[in-house]
Amino acid sequence: MADKEIPAVQAAAESRADPVIAEDLTKRFGEFTAVDRVSFRIHPGEVFGWLGPNGAGKTTTIRMLLGLIRPSAGKLSVLGYDPVTETKTMQAHVGYMSQLFTLYNDLTARENIRFYGKVYGLNRKALAQRQQEIIQMAGLEGREDMLTANLSGGWKQRLALGCAIVHNPRVIFLDEPTAGVDAISRREFWGLIYAMANKGTTILVTTHYMDEAELCQRVGFINQGRLVAAGTPDELKQTHMHGQVLEIDTPDPDRAVRLLKEAQTKGSLPFEEVALYGAQIHVVVPNAEEFRQPIRKLLEKENIQVSSLEWIMPTLEDVFISTVRESAEPGLQ
Ligand SMILES: Nc1ncnc2c1ncn2[C@@H]1O[C@H](COP(=O)(O)OP(=O)(O)O)[C@@H](O)[C@H]1O
Ligand SMILES: [Mg+2]
Repeated sequence: MADKEIPAVQAAAESRADPVIAEDLTKRFGEFTAVDRVSFRIHPGEVFGWLGPNGAGKTTTIRMLLGLIRPSAGKLSVLGYDPVTETKTMQAHVGYMSQLFTLYNDLTARENIRFYGKVYGLNRKALAQRQQEIIQMAGLEGREDMLTANLSGGWKQRLALGCAIVHNPRVIFLDEPTAGVDAISRREFWGLIYAMANKGTTILVTTHYMDEAELCQRVGFINQGRLVAAGTPDELKQTHMHGQVLEIDTPDPDRAVRLLKEAQTKGSLPFEEVALYGAQIHVVVPNAEEFRQPIRKLLEKENIQVSSLEWIMPTLEDVFISTVRESAEPGLQ
């Protein structure tokens, strides 16, 4: 009996300790609902991906969490504070890198860190220490006295992150932090995200790069203001994917996609989705084994070489497309 009570008590304590809690969060701009009754929790030290297409409501959600705009309805808690009534106290513990995060181009890297350190009220000693830590974290050693304007994209991005976390926040909101930087810099940036999470910092990150979404511990998909799915990437792949994915490799992907789409429209091969992923084609079908041969035949009849045709685990992008389609057409089965 006592054994059974302990986990329940622990669960309650853990859920109270969740650093970010949104319940039925809603934001209306006039008649338009940008965020519609969204609920989610982020656990301590977690990297939570907040994903969705442009205009889905990601930035609006973050602005409410930061206390920059007031929710129209719903409840919020960030580190136990109410962002609406305890804005200043909460903000002292929260970091934010916005899509338009501005570094001063005419200041050096070091001067930017000092500037933001002062904005956050760090004293001289704390600032000197943080400055060193951030320069090291961002890999800026040797470049600390370069003008920010002359730093390349990846360094600027890491410096922007450093400035956003100069006050050692316990929760960090990153809004498309890797937009527009090259693949290697993106990977390095994710290394920094995990280094912070491993020290216990809780992180919410938005991205439209689905390969990055796979790196998150849990994700929430938002579409037209609604949360359409949430869970770990693996959970979502197992529970939210409607259909199975066949991946086709062919030297002529554009023509193959055209043919497959024609077959889909005509209804001769009733699959759910055909899309190009880089050089490969993903076809979402009700049953991979049944559809494999007819698809191969269709393509080979038109002299399109099929180098491989495999039943694969869906990507998060497949899951996202499938989830959005289902939420738009709830009757579809
Ligand atoms: N201040 C505002 N007034 C009116 N509409 C807004 C305002 N801010 C955002 N929106 C609208 O809300 C929707 C969600 O925007 P946003 O949260 O920026 O999306 P995302 O960050 O997912 O691209 C968009 O349609 C946007 O035009
Ligand atoms: Mg946005």
